Amino acid sequence: MTFTKKQIIEAHKAIGVIDSGVGGLTVVKEISRRLPHERLIYFGDTARMPYGPRSYSEVRRFAFEMIEFLTHQGIKMLVVACNSATAAGLSAYQASCEQPVLGVIEPGVRSALTRSKSGRIGVIGTVGTINSSEYEKALRNNNGNLHVVSKACPLFVLLVENNLVETPEAKKVAHEYLDPFVKENIDALILGCTHYPLMERLIQEVVGPSVNLINSAEEIAAEVESILAENKMANPLDSDGARYRFFVSGSPEPFEEVGAKLLNREIKAYQVKLS
Ligand code: DGL
Repeated sequence: MTFTKKQIIEAHKAIGVIDSGVGGLTVVKEISRRLPHERLIYFGDTARMPYGPRSYSEVRRFAFEMIEFLTHQGIKMLVVACNSATAAGLSAYQASCEQPVLGVIEPGVRSALTRSKSGRIGVIGTVGTINSSEYEKALRNNNGNLHVVSKACPLFVLLVENNLVETPEAKKVAHEYLDPFVKENIDALILGCTHYPLMERLIQEVVGPSVNLINSAEEIAAEVESILAENKMANPLDSDGARYRFFVSGSPEPFEEVGAKLLNREIKAYQVKLS
């Protein structure tokens, strides 16, 4: 195969991924599974998470700070792997970046539409994501006849962050949030927050096996692959393997710990002050 110089320079750039914390690593995991030759730069704004309870303008400002940091390092596309940041301003990030910018809401919606047979779909997320109604709007834009039930589950993020998912308290909280969805007879539940896939087992136990849990990470990785292919930006060089760099605004150690568990390998994160 022959490539132009420009093609190789572009293709060899990294995919940028941003999130408020560790949750976006669920997306990294899927991208690495699907696109093992791609380089990746991740920023987790761990010092300022959670984003869920913050105003949209503040979340947008934080997201732009991360985007500026990553674009200066020469990324070829950006994945906003945070539902709250996507809900707060995906179109603003897309308008200000030269690179393709992908959010997490559309891929999740597509997956839910494929997997729900009854058209009764639940959505859970942070207060910011649920109040924005972005999931609900995107679902209804595709099909006006859907029955959509949404609920903010803010305590879930705290349970994951504090490693409390396996406790009886977590089970009680999960029942409080999710029992109403069971009564609504949904057959698909969108995990509209990056942290929720990290407590998927408990959520599945509470809603029952007949409900499809929608984790948009796989769908996002598939979309990253097609955007890179469409723009002829996929990395054709497979000899040196993927190289990943992780940056956080808070302390690197807890991030490295959760990241190693999730990605099944040691990771090194570097602390950067953004503001
Ligand atoms: N990353 C956030 C999201 O997906 C969850 C954690 C937070 O509130 O910052 O909405």
